[in-house]
Amino acid sequence: MENCRDNEKAALSIIPKPASIKYTQGFFTSEGLPSVRKKEASLLEEAYKLVISKDEIVLEASSPCGFFNGEQTLRQLFLSEFKNGIIKLPCAEINDYPRFSWRGFMLDSSRYFYSVAFIKRLIDVLALHHINRFHWHLTDDQGWRLPVKKFPLLTEIGSRRINNRLQGQVYSEGFYTEDEIRQVVSYAQSCHIEVIPEVDLPGHASAILASYPGLGCTGGPYRVEDRFGIFEDVLCAGNDKIFELIEEVFNTLSELFPSQWVHIGGDEVMFNRWQACPKCQRRLLELNLEKPKYLQSFITQKLVKMLWQRGKTAIGWDEILNDCEKYRLPKEAVVMSWQGEKGGVRASSLGHRVIMAPNSSGCYLDWKHMQDPEEPGQNYSGVSSVYKSYSMDPITPEMKDIDSSLILGGQCNLWSELIYAGKIAEYMIFPRLCAIAEGVWTPRENRDFDDFSRRLVTHQKRLDSLGMNQYRGPLR
Ligand code: ACM
Ligand code: ZN
Repeated sequence: MENCRDNEKAALSIIPKPASIKYTQGFFTSEGLPSVRKKEASLLEEAYKLVISKDEIVLEASSPCGFFNGEQTLRQLFLSEFKNGIIKLPCAEINDYPRFSWRGFMLDSSRYFYSVAFIKRLIDVLALHHINRFHWHLTDDQGWRLPVKKFPLLTEIGSRRINNRLQGQVYSEGFYTEDEIRQVVSYAQSCHIEVIPEVDLPGHASAILASYPGLGCTGGPYRVEDRFGIFEDVLCAGNDKIFELIEEVFNTLSELFPSQWVHIGGDEVMFNRWQACPKCQRRLLELNLEKPKYLQSFITQKLVKMLWQRGKTAIGWDEILNDCEKYRLPKEAVVMSWQGEKGGVRASSLGHRVIMAPNSSGCYLDWKHMQDPEEPGQNYSGVSSVYKSYSMDPITPEMKDIDSSLILGGQCNLWSELIYAGKIAEYMIFPRLCAIAEGVWTPRENRDFDDFSRRLVTHQKRLDSLGMNQYRGPLR
């Protein structure tokens, strides 16, 4: 018994915390990295069991994904406990499985163009935390990063913006080739991570309009934006040509991304151009709609159906729920709650599946870690402390009466307006991603911030050894 208690003191600082760890007597030691025997067992698909005894380590699972999850936990242990050629682990039996199926991270490659090498390295570290969804924000006002064969100007023009901070002489530019996208998807697959592309429509469309000005209400001139914010110019809801472009974009996504999910954006659409545009006014008349804002739901339901015909399920930001009186949001559409939790609460009460990424609960990694002028990050909205990120729970108290299977899980998002180097991105991501990962993996009853903070000390050394830049200040 004494020994077991010693082992509890030498606790394995795993993040996210496993569903169950039982410490047993003694230690496993090995010179050099040990071989792990793998055993088939009847466990849930993503679950694994890890038995560390004095003489051996056995990993049990029922699927490649389960084995992979167990290997990532072992990788954590090897990263922190392999010292001077020797590994020493307290004997224990770990039984582990996820609380939610959607454990995501979003990267905004429009505002800052991340290299493929950076993305692969990041995917590798996401996997270490059992993150299984990489939501790739590929288009926005400040850059279009997806090659579409039939609309080549989207990348020829839409992927380039003048960098005004450098006197307008320098361009920020870049798009991913088909081959690079396939590399990312395939690398992520090897890490049991699904890549979900996002094409933000019908707002955040300056890069599209700069490339094809005829698709805007005024005809332009437009430019790929160098400023950050919400812009009035959006796709013209009265012009059927926008759907021709979107068809081709969806064809491209279907070719490049095997995932069943496609994110269609839908956030922060301004309606004043639609109000003033004769084509949009004609559309309103034809559809018998009173106000331009209803045109967003007209577009959204069309896009959801276009994807459904391709065997894909649409996800949108929580605005896709608004103004749906005439054009209802199709049931299959998934709502991603970002403006706090209310969008997720409302969507689930209406029977939609939901992914929680509330900016009010530390899911926005572009916000500062703490209120300090020296800290990088958005300043206008509050802070996302590690503590706040840890507080994120995809099932909120207001959801107590809804069918909890509608809540697919949660994720954190790195918007990149203020990022101009991968190392800054890492600083914003870690360790808040570790806190979010625990929120979407670990059973609720096992979660405890003080315990997490203690494990984080060891875990941050692992991230150091992987070369990740990290925030090291106060957690609260
Ligand atoms: C968002 O943050 N505009 C989804
Ligand atoms: Zn219009």
